Amino acid sequence: LARGVTEPDLAGRHVVVSAGGTREPLDPVRFLGNRSSGKQGYALARTAAARGARVTLVSANAGLPDPAGVDVVRVGTAVQLREAVLKAAADADAVVMAAAVADFRPAAYAAGKIKKKDGQEPDPIVLVRNPDILAEISADRTRPGQVIVGFAAETDDVLANGRTKLARKGCDLLVVNEVGERKTFGAEENEAVVLGADGSETPVPHGPKEALADTVWDLVVRRLD
Ligand code: CTP
Ligand code: CA
Repeated sequence: LARGVTEPDLAGRHVVVSAGGTREPLDPVRFLGNRSSGKQGYALARTAAARGARVTLVSANAGLPDPAGVDVVRVGTAVQLREAVLKAAADADAVVMAAAVADFRPAAYAAGKIKKKDGQEPDPIVLVRNPDILAEISADRTRPGQVIVGFAAETDDVLANGRTKLARKGCDLLVVNEVGERKTFGAEENEAVVLGADGSETPVPHGPKEALADTVWDLVVRRLD
């Protein structure tokens, strides 16, 4: 697809995008969270709508305005994100998991604010695993031909880590970003390699998050046809 030219190649399709970062509450005033801004997921939702898709955007704490013509479902925690994604995925042609999902949540929620105790060190925070939503939807495809895309931010041996993760998750495509100072989190631009379960490797040069989003949809459309 040429840049700047929008073909309605997702017309008649329902796509689900998750965006932002989950927050796992500790007490009424505190949570465990992450630095995901939601910008990449929102760019995916906007570009899919521009290409004619019906879009459900499951948004975790993104603090961004609702994109025009997109159904936005707001969630807070990983468990809520899972519920919303599974529900929307039931009739979806594609699911893109751009959200940063907390791997762990506090084992207990304190209904009252956790207070300091005189002369005492704090209690440790015990964590439990959150469900792996991408692995779950990849294993239990709700319709034949459904295309499932994950995102991964990696350091060190970025591509090898990405290949291992793609296989472990069982998704069709994995967008792999290298993280480092000023890269990815909160930035306007992004650079990535999209790995396919078919062995394909699509480099996406440094550029706007919309350009990466359009490349993802190009690869999704090819697999839907
Ligand atoms: N993901 C998910 N559910 C989780 C964790 C991650 O659906 N509980 C999804 C993310 O939305 C992303 C992909 O899985 O699309 C990869 O996330 P990542 O954190 O890189 O994968 P993990 O399996 O959690 O591996 P790591 O231990 O490297 O964090
Ligand atoms: Ca993780």
